Formats: sequence, C-alpha cells, structure tokens
Amino acid sequence: MLIAPSLLSADFSRLGEEVAALEQAGADWVHFDVMDGHFVPPITIGPRTVEHCRRYAKLPFDVHLMIENPERSIDAFRDAGANTISVHVEATRHIHRALESIRKAGMRPGVCLNPGSPLVLVEPVLKDADLLVVMCVNPGWGGQKYIEGSPERIKAARALRDRLNPKLEIEVDGGVNAETGRQSTQSGATVLVAGSFVFGHPQGAKAAIDQLR
Ligand code: DX5
Ligand code: ZN
Repeated sequence: MLIAPSLLSADFSRLGEEVAALEQAGADWVHFDVMDGHFVPPITIGPRTVEHCRRYAKLPFDVHLMIENPERSIDAFRDAGANTISVHVEATRHIHRALESIRKAGMRPGVCLNPGSPLVLVEPVLKDADLLVVMCVNPGWGGQKYIEGSPERIKAARALRDRLNPKLEIEVDGGVNAETGRQSTQSGATVLVAGSFVFGHPQGAKAAIDQLR
C-alpha cells in the first residue's frame, strides 16, 4: 500500500517546503495535480513548479495531467523531474500513443478514468500502463465527497488488472480519508492519493499518512 499525498490542498506559496514536509511525514510518492483550465475549470501548476519542487525531495513525483492534449507536455514534465505521468483517457484521442510516448520519455505511464467513464475504455491499453488511476471524484477540486459506488469500480479495475497486467498499480484518487481509504484498499487499490485528508488533518500530515497506512 503506497500513500501519495496530493499537493492540491497544500499552501501554494510554499510548495517546496510542503514537498519536503511530506517526505519527512513518510509519504511514498508526491501527487501533483496539473490543471489547465480547459480539461477542468481550475488552473493549478505546470512543469516549472514541478522542476523547483524537485530540489526539495527525493520521493517519486506522480504527475496527474488534467489537461487537454497531454502529449504536448510529456517532455517538459520529464525534464522537470516527473517519475510517473498519468493522462486521462478522456483528454486524448490517442491514449495508446500517449502512454507509449511517456514510456519512451523514460517515465512510468498511467491512465486515468473519470467517474463517468466505463472501464472498457482502458482495457486495450492496460498492459501498456504501469498505473491505472480510478477517479472517485469529478476532477478539478480537492475536498470533494468520495462518489457512491466507487468500491465496485475499484473491484472491477482490480479484476481487469489481475487478468491483464498483474504488475499494474491501482491508484485511487479523490475523497480518500481513513474510511474510504479502507474501502478502497479492501476493493483492490494499491496506491491511495489524499489531499484534504492529509493537509487538513488536525494532528498533521504524518498522523494522516500513518492513519491511512
Ligand atoms: C482532483 C485531483 C485529486 C484531488 C484529491 O482533481 O485529481 O488528486 O487533489 O483531493 P482530495 O483528497 O481532497 O479529494
Ligand atoms: Zn489527482
């Protein structure tokens, strides 16, 4: 079970320090939510922010692209120090090519599914990915409610992974707290992303990460 705190709920005026604090708090990965104001309404960060955060931690950087035409930004995020890049199947006409390009650029490719997208959309490329991101909220914001029925989707994703690519990580993203994290893990998740639960925890990030673990 890997814990990948999302910076979306961090203090954006101190992202480097927040990344260093996550490493100290025992996070396994750092999850960067990149939003372009087109694929989702909000705009967050780009490669330059990832590049400057790279100096503050050694942890793998798990970059979640919620942007149109993600293929155009693969090299920039690689140069910035990303280790994994996940792209939405809804954001590109050529998901197979996008995953291939991420791997050719030397990173681990991930494919993301919105809550309204059927799992069958990613079936043809599951063996080409290292990560399947099951969104349990509609992308764009932190602090949203874990969507009803997510455990069933995670179970179905896990069954597909066991059949087609047993090495695939199943990352659950959105609305993860102690309760939904437990449900997600029991349903087959191998990586938990949590933003507001970690950055809003009364006892701090380490307590939140320990509780999720
Ligand atoms: C939403 C992002 C998620 C989000 C998770 O579009 O992809 O990673 O930051 O935030 P919480 O854990 O607060 O739902
Ligand atoms: Zn995310």
